[in-house]
Amino acid sequence: EARLTGVTPGLDRVLNLTHSIHYMRLAAIQLPRFPRSELLKKVAGIQGLYRLLSERIDADVLDAPESTVSTMSVGYDHVSLEELKKTGTRLGYTPEVLTEAAAELTVALLLATSCQLLEAVDEAKVSGWGSWKPLWMCGYGLTDSTMGILGLGCIDELQQTVAMHLKPFGVRKFLYINTAPQPKMAAAIPTEFVPLEEMARCSDFITVCCMLSPGSQSICNSSMFSQMKDTTIFSNRSRGSVVNQDDLYQALASGHIAAAGLDVMVPEPLPTDHPLFKFKNCVILPHITNATWSRVVKGCYRDPPTALCKGEILTENLIIYILF
Ligand code: GLV
Ligand code: GLV
Repeated sequence: EARLTGVTPGLDRVLNLTHSIHYMRLAAIQLPRFPRSELLKKVAGIQGLYRLLSERIDADVLDAPESTVSTMSVGYDHVSLEELKKTGTRLGYTPEVLTEAAAELTVALLLATSCQLLEAVDEAKVSGWGSWKPLWMCGYGLTDSTMGILGLGCIDELQQTVAMHLKPFGVRKFLYINTAPQPKMAAAIPTEFVPLEEMARCSDFITVCCMLSPGSQSICNSSMFSQMKDTTIFSNRSRGSVVNQDDLYQALASGHIAAAGLDVMVPEPLPTDHPLFKFKNCVILPHITNATWSRVVKGCYRDPPTALCKGEILTENLIIYILF
């Protein structure tokens, strides 16, 4: 019979659990985040699990045969696919539900860093304006800029949506990186597929929307930062491990780049005494790309799956995509 623990109020209705209970025994549906040892105890022997991206999911978590694990996230880098395949565990995730939200947050991070928005708020509220100074709070605008979009492995629709959201701000040129040129992207908006070095050298802004994979891990490192202009603004809302954080710290500390905007970092949550918090020109958000109502609604109530992967209806209202 079903056993539910730690269900966030309201989520049970969204998931329409009365139906899913027929399908599988569910446990540990939602936050609070359990210590690993406690999670392992809670899930012992269960066959179905629904979690968020904050937990490592591997064979230790789900070892019952024929189990299913679903993650309410676009990324599944916290899931050990190899181990799950070995035990025959199936994985569900929610692709594409964040495309617009991710593009909007990209814009927000670029505006916040280029207008020094948070620093300006602090100046007004905490430090006081003082008198007008001609060079005070001068930022670098998006108008006429060259924008680099680093999208290794991300769906072309996301890169394209990011570019479309930024185009009205007067971005002059888009450079992008992916595992291969994306014809759909170039058709929608003039963009140039370039090597990483060229993107680093030529961009006024670089925004990262990669999937985390062995190929993208630490791809933003000292060699990339050293090629960037000292007026370049870097932003990341994909996964923290795409960036070598020590190298980013050095690039900011040495003034080698102008600013950084981060929605993701290592670890999450980032301890409040972390050195990155010292920089006024580093805007740090607590991974809120996925904090949008459209994700909750679209993630749970959406049309039958696209060709991306096979879909399976687990409950009356919840469609989870089965990856393998
Ligand atoms: C957010 O980062 C997600 O992967 O859903
Ligand atoms: C700005 O407010 C200006 O008048 O230049």
